[in-house]
Amino acid sequence: MSAGEIGLELRDVSVQFGGIHAVQGVDFSVAPSRVHGLVGPNGSGKTTILNAICGFVGSDGEIEVGGARIDGMGSYGRMRRGLGRTFQNPRPARELTVRDLLRIGEHDRKAQPWWQVALTPRAADRALRESNERASRLLAMVDIGPGLLEQQLVNLPAGVLKMVDIARALMGAPRVLLLDEPTSGMNDVEIDLLHAALRELSGDSLTILLVEHNLRFMFDICDSMTVLATGRVVGHGTPTEVFQREEVIHAYMGSSTASVHESRPHPVEPSAG
Ligand SMILES: Nc1ncnc2c1ncn2[C@@H]1O[C@H](COP(=O)(O)OP(=O)(O)OP(=O)(O)O)[C@@H](O)[C@H]1O
Ligand SMILES: [Mg+2]
Repeated sequence: MSAGEIGLELRDVSVQFGGIHAVQGVDFSVAPSRVHGLVGPNGSGKTTILNAICGFVGSDGEIEVGGARIDGMGSYGRMRRGLGRTFQNPRPARELTVRDLLRIGEHDRKAQPWWQVALTPRAADRALRESNERASRLLAMVDIGPGLLEQQLVNLPAGVLKMVDIARALMGAPRVLLLDEPTSGMNDVEIDLLHAALRELSGDSLTILLVEHNLRFMFDICDSMTVLATGRVVGHGTPTEVFQREEVIHAYMGSSTASVHESRPHPVEPSAG
């Protein structure tokens, strides 16, 4: 893959917490407009990798977005380079509304100093109108009407809160979106909506790195996958290739391989390869 063809690349990335090697020598790359899955058992380092990419934790190794190194930057600089992320368990402040959260997401895109707003009120009005339209468009993608904008986040069902958090990340207009277990807490209808929205977004030149335990969803949406076990990569490939490999199934599920096979939409017998 040449630099121009890389959406996101990790080279030999490691993260250590005291004596714990949470992530060790991880390499993978994702082409632009592709959906890449990151799977592995609990504690295998998936969230830590997202945190390393965002700069929320320190890491060794090299990380590139769109062919440019970001690993020397702080987390805010990385956001401005085109990274967006959602959280495994969003915990919004009690008083925030959906509209407030979307504004926060937009702030990652272009923070406007107060004096600029004061000096150019018309431009500020226009920016506000555009921001509201953008927020409504993103919410409509996941079937949420503008009526929800004034709702407090703490009153939202878990699945809707997850959708709103994705819309918040998209308000920053990222080139690379990192999603941490987006389907947890969602019902089947919401999962189908998310699937359609992610397909539309990747077709619209967004690169997506997806962490998820819902393997059926992963099979349906991912172009490629990386499998982790205890912080190390144990397999790469298309979803079908990955789950044909016995060592991957073993790493993912320990001795119980049944639930991997049950989760697959088109079960394939594992091969030795
Ligand atoms: N801030 C931290 N301080 C110390 N150890 C941490 C920290 N964050 C993660 N770890 C450890 O790093 C390892 C990887 O954790 P991580 O949260 O990345 O796993 P995960 O694959 O996202 O798991 P899950 O599927 O349960 O979300 C675990 O052993 C975890 O306890
Ligand atoms: Mg996690």
